[in-house]
Amino acid sequence: MFPFTRMRRLRNTEALRAMVRETSLSPQDFIAPLFVRHGENIKEEISAMPGQYHFSVDTVLTECAELAALGISGVMLFGIPDHKDATGSESYDDNGIVQQAIRAIKKALPDFLVIADVCMCEYTDHGHCGIIHDHYVDNDETLEYLCKQTLSYARAGVDMVAPSDMMDGRIQAMRRALDENGFVKIPIMAYSAKFSSAFYGPFREAADSAPSFGDRRSYQMDPANANEALREIESDIEEGADIVMVKPALPYLDIIARAAQEFKLPIAAYNVSGEYSMVKAAAANGWIDEDRIIIESLLSIKRAGAKIIITYFAKDACRIMNKH
Ligand code: PBG
Repeated sequence: MFPFTRMRRLRNTEALRAMVRETSLSPQDFIAPLFVRHGENIKEEISAMPGQYHFSVDTVLTECAELAALGISGVMLFGIPDHKDATGSESYDDNGIVQQAIRAIKKALPDFLVIADVCMCEYTDHGHCGIIHDHYVDNDETLEYLCKQTLSYARAGVDMVAPSDMMDGRIQAMRRALDENGFVKIPIMAYSAKFSSAFYGPFREAADSAPSFGDRRSYQMDPANANEALREIESDIEEGADIVMVKPALPYLDIIARAAQEFKLPIAAYNVSGEYSMVKAAAANGWIDEDRIIIESLLSIKRAGAKIIITYFAKDACRIMNKH
């Protein structure tokens, strides 16, 4: 008790603070999401996400080489197809844009992790994450398409698949499809607790994936629910998920913390587009210290219990960390 206990003693110098620091960030913690599209020599900035781009396969290689040189673990690929239809057929076409990017990146950088997001919404003309019947996303039929997409990515050489659709039973279906086709070694990172969030707004502009009618509340989670998030995570683990994810990150740190306490597998957190764009917008206005906000945000996500952080700030964070 005071005056014997003085918490400030260990805060007096940077050497002391560094010695007792409980959480640290490293480039290996990060996965960078990237958007790929058809064409050549394309690096087009996404207007709602300054510093993020649409890449063609040739330019994405340059970007990946830079990320790998910084020590970042890998990338999460999202595709912008040339053509959208009711079943999202480019998503399971072996010559689809993501499949081309996977093959090219793995060839150029064999040790760099290439993870592919598995979902229909970027590829369907209605923008929903599955197959529609009577204005309703049909869960079990969608599973067949998610498996086709998964196998196509596996044939292209993907290191890991990450389903973000929120259909029930998808992890079990994808695990079975992978195993039956000789891909027992490919892990699944499940977007387990994915909330129906306004923080995805800029991404939907970037991926042109906003639903043409309704919203995603019949499959993504209600932001009010924490126990249900733990049930989602538990069932994905039972179905065979290797890594589970909470998404978005900062508004859901309580979920990350509870998940990290209850489950002993690696927890990933997705620091999503809205979380990124808000910081970039405030910084562009001179209202905040961008570098400090980035590091503090990522540190909070790690401190809450995330082992892996999927973040558009991956490159910024490495640049900032290298300054110090
Ligand atoms: C696809 C998907 C989305 C995101 C990742 N995968 C969008 C959505 O569910 O509408 C969002 C990522 C972000 O906002 O950065 N289902």
